Amino acid sequence: MTMLRAERVTLGYGKRPVVHDVSLDITEGGVGLIGESGSGKTTLARAFLGLLTPMSGNIWYGDKTLKKADLRAFRKDVQPVFQAEALDPRMRIGSSIAEALPRGDRARVRELLEQVGLDPDLAARRPHQLSGGQRQRVVIARALAVGPGLLILDEPTSALDVTVQAKILDLLAGLDTERLLITHNLAVVERLCRTSHVLFAGRIVESGPTKDLLAKPAHPYTKALRDAVPKLGGAPPEARGRTEAVPAATGCPYRLRCPIAVPECEQAPALRDAGGGRQVACHRAGDVT
Ligand SMILES: Nc1ncnc2c1ncn2[C@@H]1O[C@H](COP(=O)(O)OP(=O)(O)OP(=O)(O)O)[C@@H](O)[C@H]1O
Ligand code: SF4
Ligand SMILES: [Mg+2]
Repeated sequence: MTMLRAERVTLGYGKRPVVHDVSLDITEGGVGLIGESGSGKTTLARAFLGLLTPMSGNIWYGDKTLKKADLRAFRKDVQPVFQAEALDPRMRIGSSIAEALPRGDRARVRELLEQVGLDPDLAARRPHQLSGGQRQRVVIARALAVGPGLLILDEPTSALDVTVQAKILDLLAGLDTERLLITHNLAVVERLCRTSHVLFAGRIVESGPTKDLLAKPAHPYTKALRDAVPKLGGAPPEARGRTEAVPAATGCPYRLRCPIAVPECEQAPALRDAGGGRQVACHRAGDVT
C-alpha cells in the first residue's frame, strides 16, 4: 500500500530548484531518505507534509493530489517528527502534547508519555528540565497524539549520543506507524527502513531494498556513504558538517567526486531499472565494487 507518492516532483525556493524530478513512493516497512547536507532531504519532507508546493509534479495522498485532498484528514494522518529543539521552551511537556489533542484529555497525555517510555509525571516539567533523549521522546509522543498513519522523521536522533540514539531507534522500531526517515546514518535506515533512496544534489541516484543497497551499492555515491559509516552514531565524513556538495553543472552531477568517472559521464545518466526493485543513475552501475 502506498500512503504518499511523489510523482516527478521538482521543488525549490523562489525560482531556484533544489530537488529535481523526484519520484518516490512511501510504502509499508519504512522508507529511508539518505544524503549529505544540502541534498534536499528536508525540502522533500516539507513537500510530503504539504508545506511546500512543487514547482512541477505532484504529491499524491491516496488517489488525490494534495491540492485536492481532504487536508484535515491529511494533517492528522501524516505527522512530522522534528528535532527536539523545536519544543517551546516555555511550555510544560504535558501542554505541548495536549495541544494536539481534544481539550483537556490529560489521561491521554499520560498514556502517550508511557508509550514512549517516559514517566507520566514528566508532564509537569519544561523542556530544559529533560535530557535530550527525553525531549526527543516527547516530540514523538506529540506526533503520535492524533493517531497518525505515517510519521515523517527528519534526523530524529542525530543530535543525541549513541546509546540514547539506539534507545530511540528501539522505540521507533516498535511503533506500528509507517515512516519516512531522513538521515545521514546508514545504520539507522538499515534497521528501520525496508526501502531506501539515496539523494545527491537534489536527485535520486539510487533506490531499492535497503539491505541490497548496503550489501552491494550500484552507485559510487551509495558506496562512499556506506564505506564511510561502519557503525551507528557517526555521520560519514562526506556528510558531516554543513558544507554542501557542489554538483557538476553538466553531465552526471557526481562526476567531480566520482572515482570511476569516464568521458561518457559528461552525459547525465538517467535513473533506470536495475532489477530486483532497484533503480540507479550511473553509466557504470555494474562496475561498482
Ligand atoms: N528556506 C530556504 N530558502 C532558500 N533555500 C533553502 C531553504 N531551505 C533549504 N534551502 C536550500 O535548498 C537546498 C536543500 O536544502 P535541504 O535543507 O532540503 O537539505 P538537507 O538534505 O535537508 O540538508 P541537511 O542534511 O543539512 O538538513 C540547499 O541548497 C539549501 O541551501
Ligand atoms: S555516471 Fe559516471 S560520474 Fe556519475 S556516478 Fe556513474 S561513473 Fe561516476
Ligand atoms: Mg535537513
